[in-house]
Amino acid sequence: MRISVIGCGYLGAVHAAAMADLGHEVIAIDVDDAKIALLSAGKTPFYEPGLPEILTTSLASGRLSFTTDISLAKGSNVHFIAVGTPQSADSNAADMRFVNAAVTALIPHLSDSDLVVGKSTVPVGTAARLQEMIATSGSAAALAWNPEFLREGHAVTDTISPDRLVYGVAPGPRKDAAVSTLNAVYATAIAAETPVVVTDLATAELVKIAANSFLATKISFINAMSEITDAVGANITELADAIGYDNRIGRRFLNAGVGFGGGCLPKDIRAFVARAEELGRGESVAFLSEMDAINKRQRTRVANLVLGAAASVDVELTSARVAVLGLAFKPLSDDVRDSPALDVALKLNALGADVIAYDPEANGPARLRFPALVTAETLDEVLTGADVIVLVTEWPEFIALDPERVAGLVSHRAIVDARNVLDADRWRAAGFTFVGMGRP
Ligand code: UDX
Repeated sequence: MRISVIGCGYLGAVHAAAMADLGHEVIAIDVDDAKIALLSAGKTPFYEPGLPEILTTSLASGRLSFTTDISLAKGSNVHFIAVGTPQSADSNAADMRFVNAAVTALIPHLSDSDLVVGKSTVPVGTAARLQEMIATSGSAAALAWNPEFLREGHAVTDTISPDRLVYGVAPGPRKDAAVSTLNAVYATAIAAETPVVVTDLATAELVKIAANSFLATKISFINAMSEITDAVGANITELADAIGYDNRIGRRFLNAGVGFGGGCLPKDIRAFVARAEELGRGESVAFLSEMDAINKRQRTRVANLVLGAAASVDVELTSARVAVLGLAFKPLSDDVRDSPALDVALKLNALGADVIAYDPEANGPARLRFPALVTAETLDEVLTGADVIVLVTEWPEFIALDPERVAGLVSHRAIVDARNVLDADRWRAAGFTFVGMGRP
C-alpha cells in the first residue's frame, strides 16, 4: 500500500519509518527543510532507540522517502496526519494551527477514493470539523481517526506491535471500506491478534485523551499518597506494591517521584480541561486541574528536599554544589519538554545553588533551551565535588551507581532520590544522608 505521512516530528517520523519497515511504500512530508534533509540522510532529529536502524533499512530499500513537497502525497491511498498539537502560547487549549494547515495543504492532492487518517492528539470534535472541511472543498475523500499510544523510548515497538488499535470511522457507505483500508495498513499487527476497537470519530478522539488523563491521574494519585506517607514515616513503594497486587488497580504507573512531564501528558490534560469547559462540561474533568497541581507541586517538593539534604551535611544551599542526575523527562529519551528534571535544576539554580547537571542524552537539548545551564560531560564529572546529589531521571547508569565509589568523588554525602529507584540501605551504609520521596 502507498501511504503518506504528514508531519515528521516524533510521531510522524516513527510512524513513517515503521510503516515502511512493515512493507508499505511511504512518502513522509514536512514543511521543515532541515528536518527533511536530516531524515533523508538517515539521521534522526531526536534520540529514540531502534529508530535509526529502521530508518536506514527503509531508506535503503527504497520504500521510504522524505520530502517538503506535499503534492507528492498524490497517489497514496492513505494519508496520515501526524503533526503536533502543542499547548497554545496564551491558553491551556491545544494549538490546532499545524493540523489545520496540514489538511488544507493536503486537500488539493486528494483523490475521491483516498482515506485521510488523523493520528495527532486533538480536542474532541476536530475530526468532524476536518471531515466537513474536506467535503466542503469538493473532495469525496473519507476521514478516519486512529489515535497513537506510543511511548517515547519505546516508540518503534509500540508502533509495530501496539497493544490495541482504535479506528474512529463515520457511519455511512464508506465505513466498511475505511475499516478494510486500516486493516490492510496494520495487517501485521492484526495477524498477531492485536485487539481492534472500531468506533465513531468522537469516541476515537476521546480514547486517546482519556487514556492519558487516566495515566496522569494514576501518577498524581500515588504522588499525593507519597505526601501522606512522608508525613507519617510510612513507605510509598511498599504501599504501591501492596495496592498494585489488586488486579483492578495494577502496579504500573504507580511509581511515586518527581512526577510526569514530556510532550504529552501535561499538555493533554490541560487541553482536555479547556475543551470540556468549551463544551459546558468543565466540572466533569475539573479533577484533572488538581492532578496537574499535584504534579507541579512535586518539583517544588524535590527542591525543598535538596535544601534539607544540604542542611543535613551543614551546607547552605546558596553555597552548595548540587549534582542533578538527569534532564530528560524520562530515561531513553532526550526530550526536555515540560521535564520535571530540568524544572528542578532551574528551581535550584534560582534558589542560588551551584547547579551542575548531567544527562546521557539530553544535555544538548536542555542547553538549547537554557544556555546558562551548566552541564557535565560525564557522570563522574557531575559527581566530583558535589555537596548534594539529586537523581531526577531514572537512567539505568544512575540506578547502577556504586555508593562506595560515589563517596570517594563527592565533597559531602547527601543524596535525594526523586524517582525512588535507589537502594536506601546501601547508600546509608556508605555514609550518605539518603532522602526518598514518601519512603524512609
Ligand atoms: C505518554 C503515554 O504513555 C503514551 O501512551 C502517549 O501516547 C503519549 O504520552 P510518554 O510521554 O512517552 O507517553 O511517557 P510515559 O512513559 O507515559 O511517561 C510519562 C511521564 O510520567 C514521565 O515523565 C514519567 O517519568 C512519568 N511517570 C511514569 C511517573 O512519574 N511514574 C510512573 O509510575 C510512570
